[in-house]
Amino acid sequence: MTKARRMMQENVKLVDLILELADARIPVSSRNPDIDELGKGKSRIVLLNKSDLADPLYNRQWTAWLEEAGIHILEVNSKTGAGVKSINALVQKACAEKIERDRKRGIQNRPVRAMVVGIPNVGKSTFINSFAGRACTRTGNKPGVTKGKQWIRLNNKLELLDTPGILWPRFEDRQVGMHLAFIGSINDDILQVEELALDLLDSLRSRYPDAVTERYGITWTEENAAMLEDIAESRKCFLKGQVPDLKKAASILVDDFRNGRLGRITLETPPSAGFRGQVNYNSQEDKQ
Ligand code: G4P
Repeated sequence: MTKARRMMQENVKLVDLILELADARIPVSSRNPDIDELGKGKSRIVLLNKSDLADPLYNRQWTAWLEEAGIHILEVNSKTGAGVKSINALVQKACAEKIERDRKRGIQNRPVRAMVVGIPNVGKSTFINSFAGRACTRTGNKPGVTKGKQWIRLNNKLELLDTPGILWPRFEDRQVGMHLAFIGSINDDILQVEELALDLLDSLRSRYPDAVTERYGITWTEENAAMLEDIAESRKCFLKGQVPDLKKAASILVDDFRNGRLGRITLETPPSAGFRGQVNYNSQEDKQ
């Protein structure tokens, strides 16, 4: 077992609630379903982060679909803090059973303890900073708490573990791997940027054809390789002898996508109403 996983297991034991960050552009591929097992018996909220980069229509569809599946869900933008304030109310809802159990045992006002988890680059640190803000106090080394753990007291109802849990991305499935690579979750050093750009063009061609043509002032041709050439020409990227620099064009395309310069794009669609098998989001009831 890896050290990260062991640490995660230790930390999960200390909390009541898991705040799981997913990337709103790829809500399925950006999560690791192992958290269902690791977080068994814990309350859970899924946060669709980077919602500012994702298509608002799909943000609404995913939110509706996940709510329907019994999952507590919120769209957030950790960079600006949009949506983050609504979390407190949702925490109370997600932890209603625990709060009621405490009350019956005569325990009152014990804050909910939460931790943030997600794959690398999904925005965990940005989220913690945004959620905790500056007004928080950090408390450490409380009795009963593993030495060295730092808790951020957000208010008298909620404490957050200040180190997030890192989930490893899952990319055995080719499409999942591709989507993770598009958003920059897989180390670019191990990827061929031209191949990545050709795959990205495939996805954009079918889902957001105008995003490419409008950005680069080109029209779709049958071959993606020719599209890369056109992007190179439109951006004046040439090697010696006026040969289009496809690698440069590929980097421009991928960067433009990652930074939202192609517009707000979502690459995964929720299944039609009622379907729950393939998507691998388990509701709270399923877990317990
Ligand atoms: P991690 O802890 O999960 O590894 O992720 P981290 O917070 O470091 O965030 C990774 C990148 O994602 C950062 O960009 C961060 O600014 C960006 N980010 C996080 N949340 C959001 C969001 O809701 N919307 C948008 N648009 N971006 C978000 P970076 O380029 O690595 O750093 P920086 O240039 O922003 O400083």
